Amino acid sequence: MPRLSAWFVRAALVYLGLGFTFGGLLLANKGVPLHPLTWRLLPAHIEFLLFGWTLQLAFGVAFWILPRWQTQRGDVRPAWAALILLNAGIWLVALTGWLDWPAWSLALGRLLEATAIIAFAIHAWPRIKPWVEAPA
Ligand code: HEM
Repeated sequence: MPRLSAWFVRAALVYLGLGFTFGGLLLANKGVPLHPLTWRLLPAHIEFLLFGWTLQLAFGVAFWILPRWQTQRGDVRPAWAALILLNAGIWLVALTGWLDWPAWSLALGRLLEATAIIAFAIHAWPRIKPWVEAPA
C-alpha cells in the first residue's frame, strides 16, 4: 500500500472510532441525560463518519487501486493536498459545532472540504481509464 493510502486509511479508522464513540454518547444521552453539552457532539459525529471515515477510506483505497502508468500514479501532489485540506476542513466544521464558533468558520471548513474533493478529482481523473488489451 502506498504511503498516502496508509495515511488516509489510518486517519479513517481513527475517525470511525471517534464517530461511533460520539454516536454512542449521543444515543446514551437520549435515555440517560449525561450533560447538557453532549448534544453539541452531533456535528462532530456527522462530520467524522461521513467525511472522516467514509470519504477518506474511499480516497485511500482509490489512490492505491486506480489504474497506473506502469508503476507511476501521475501527479500525486493534489492527492496529498486533499489529505491535508480534508482533515483541516473536518476539524474546522466539527469544532465550530462543538465550541459554537461563528458561521464563517463553518463556511471555511466546508470550503476546505470541497477543495479537497476537487483536488482529489484532479489527481484521479486521468487514472480512470479502461484496460488496453494486448493484441492476440
Ligand atoms: C457510518 C455510520 C454513521 C453515520 C454516517 C451517521 C450519521 C449521522 C447523521 C447524518 C446524523 C444526523 C441525522 C439527522 O439530523 O436527522 C446522525 C445522528 C445520530 N447518530 Fe449517527 N451515524 C452513524 C453511526 C452511528 C452510530 C454507530 C451511533 C450510535 C452508537 C449513532 C448515533 C446517532 C445519534 C444518537 C444521532 C442523533 C439522532 C437524533 O437526531 O435524535 N450514529 N448520525
